[in-house]
Amino acid sequence: MARLLLALLLVSFATFAYTTVYPVMVGQGGNTFTPQNITNLKVGDSVNFTWVNGMHSVTLSDAPAGTCVQSTSIQNSEIQAPTNVVGTSVLFNITSSTPPTVWYFCRVLQHCQGGMWGVLKLESASNSTNPSPSSAPKSPNGGSSSQPATPEKTSSANKGEISGALIIGSGLLMYFAGLFL
Ligand SMILES: *[C@@H]1O[C@H](CO)[C@@H](O)[C@H](O)[C@H]1NC(C)=O
Ligand SMILES: *[C@@H]1O[C@H](CO)[C@@H](O)[C@H](O)[C@H]1NC(C)=O
Ligand SMILES: *[C@@H]1O[C@H](CO)[C@@H](O)[C@H](O)[C@H]1NC(C)=O
Ligand SMILES: *[C@@H]1O[C@H](CO)[C@@H](O)[C@H](O)[C@H]1NC(C)=O
Repeated sequence: MARLLLALLLVSFATFAYTTVYPVMVGQGGNTFTPQNITNLKVGDSVNFTWVNGMHSVTLSDAPAGTCVQSTSIQNSEIQAPTNVVGTSVLFNITSSTPPTVWYFCRVLQHCQGGMWGVLKLESASNSTNPSPSSAPKSPNGGSSSQPATPEKTSSANKGEISGALIIGSGLLMYFAGLFL
């Protein structure tokens, strides 16, 4: 019994420890998503869209990249309706039913036509088309010193939360071990 519990807890920690929250800045330095593309997403990861400036939406489209038309085939294709509330943050969670490639754009005015769109790729789809998983943010307004954390940095930033969870988990584990051993 205790062993089963131990195994279950270890499995759930292992799964949790490898998920990543990828930040995407909305409207940072212009009508852009930064970074524009994220590749190698896994089930359990999330993309955290955070409003920095301006009126923008996050709306799903169909292929190809840069299509500025809301998808009619995807249910709930409006991830976030247009808002200009700075600090709004919306999670797009990668689940087992997320398609291998997700195209999205801002449907406000001509923002998308001006380049405000992005692509999210699951790991399973990343090899075939886009060989370089460049997360270099496009910064049409001449760059900025306050670029957001890269996904890699975010991963390490999340380690605080992960070790917090591990500590809580270890406590629970000891508790249950005490009960069942
Ligand atoms: C994002 O991906 C699209 C194709 O999927 C590509 O055309 C575009 O150049 C990429 N942007 C960046 C900044 O790599
Ligand atoms: C999403 O980003 C916002 C703004 O940085 C932050 O406050 C929030 O904690 C993030 N959410 C997650 C799940 O990381
Ligand atoms: C995404 O996952 C978080 C927990 O990680 C949950 O609180 C949130 O409701 C989910 N968002 C959606 C749109 O499913
Ligand atoms: C993608 O490439 C990596 C490394 O070359 C490989 O391990 C992985 O199996 C590939 N995935 C697919 C879906 O081909």
